Amino acid sequence: MERTGTRGLVLRRAKNPEELRRQYQSSPNVRVTMSQRCDWSVKRSYLAAKTYNPIRHIIENLDLQPNPEKQMVALSIGDPTIFGNLRAPPNVIDAVEESLNSFRYNGYGPASGFDCAKQAIAEYTTTQHTDVYSEDVVLCSGCSGAIDLAISVLAEAGRNILVPCPGFSIYRTLAEGLGITVREYKLKPEKDWEIDLEDLEKQIDADTAALIITNPSNPCGSVFSERHLRDIVQVAARNYVPIIADEIYEHLVFKGETFIPIADVSNEVPILKCSGLTKRFLIPGWRIGWIVIHDRSGIFGKEIRSGLQGLATRILGGNTIVQGAIPRILRETPQTFYDETVQVYQKNASLAYSILSEIPGLKAIMPRGAMYMMVRVDMWDFPGFKNGLEFVTQLVAEESVFPLPGECFSYPGYFRIVLSVPSEMLDVACHRIAEFCERHYKKKNEVIFSVSPECNDL
Ligand SMILES: Cc1ncc(COP(=O)(O)O)c(C=O)c1O
Repeated sequence: MERTGTRGLVLRRAKNPEELRRQYQSSPNVRVTMSQRCDWSVKRSYLAAKTYNPIRHIIENLDLQPNPEKQMVALSIGDPTIFGNLRAPPNVIDAVEESLNSFRYNGYGPASGFDCAKQAIAEYTTTQHTDVYSEDVVLCSGCSGAIDLAISVLAEAGRNILVPCPGFSIYRTLAEGLGITVREYKLKPEKDWEIDLEDLEKQIDADTAALIITNPSNPCGSVFSERHLRDIVQVAARNYVPIIADEIYEHLVFKGETFIPIADVSNEVPILKCSGLTKRFLIPGWRIGWIVIHDRSGIFGKEIRSGLQGLATRILGGNTIVQGAIPRILRETPQTFYDETVQVYQKNASLAYSILSEIPGLKAIMPRGAMYMMVRVDMWDFPGFKNGLEFVTQLVAEESVFPLPGECFSYPGYFRIVLSVPSEMLDVACHRIAEFCERHYKKKNEVIFSVSPECNDL
């Protein structure tokens, strides 16, 4: 359709955006509008349609009906504050009170964060091998915000990122809506969840924008050795792939273990380290995370730094009141607080391991850090259940104990328990799991007999 507008402009109607673009390109001095809007048609965006959180999706679709006679024990939630046994230390609370009362942090902060906070994070992150400066730090809303920025600055539609399997689902949730393909590389449960480096390298191609590693790991509770970190860096260097290091569980390692930031073993490979206050300081709701840019060889250069600055302007960083408290939080928190938190996780890991590893049909894998333990379920020993989801649903129905099924981490045949639960509760929960398994466990020959009693070639 074509008509002449009030100022002599030719107005044309286009049926869809593609036609509109074509018409505009062919004759820019003709004003083109979309065809008549005659009804409501409000559609969700591609980003909204493709944003998918497997954990939420799986849990919402499970029909969980706890046994009314037994108190529910949720071993599923990675929030260390929910049971009330673990609390942020007094100096952290004081620091926020001071920040609030100062009236200095009520306004908008700089997009990448207040300098006092960035300076304190730089000091906190500096090691004997790696110097960090405040200009290397970008404040974000939680570590999820940091991962979002890191993925968005390095990757885009049509490219791919490599993520661990089993792994935390947020990487997929953040990337797929942007049209980024997520490729999973395998971890080896029999080798303390080290990365299968061959599998990792096989998956790298010209479109690989980044390799994500999680260390210490959710859901595995693994902590990589220096040797393994060096091997990972070599793969990245050989293939020119930058690393996104999700180190939100940094320092949460059991006695005798050492946390080594991957930046400490990389001279060449550029790294975006993602971390925050969430886990170590027991304040997930405060939503403070950060990116630290490690770029010793200047490979990221201005390009990635200015990209991060630009992306940071989309939401203007993390909560300013907490930013104002960061210097005191990071400088004044006593070592005893850190040690006590880790002791709780380690004691619970030993407790759960001692009970679960005695249960026929299960194989608990002792963690070295973070706050989780993975447990393998040999499904053939529990022929009453089609899969791990059914196993967990029935465990809730009979025993009111809810571990997170491995399906939430792309890893069927396992479940994950959290170690931040009060010990007495964890003890009860593990014994209930034992009773449940005893009731449903069928030895191999019993299973075969039940299928074919006359079969005798066992
Ligand atoms: C491995 C990992 N990365 C990132 C996050 C997100 O952290 P935040 O709550 O600070 O966004 C979590 C939270 O559980 C996690 O387990």
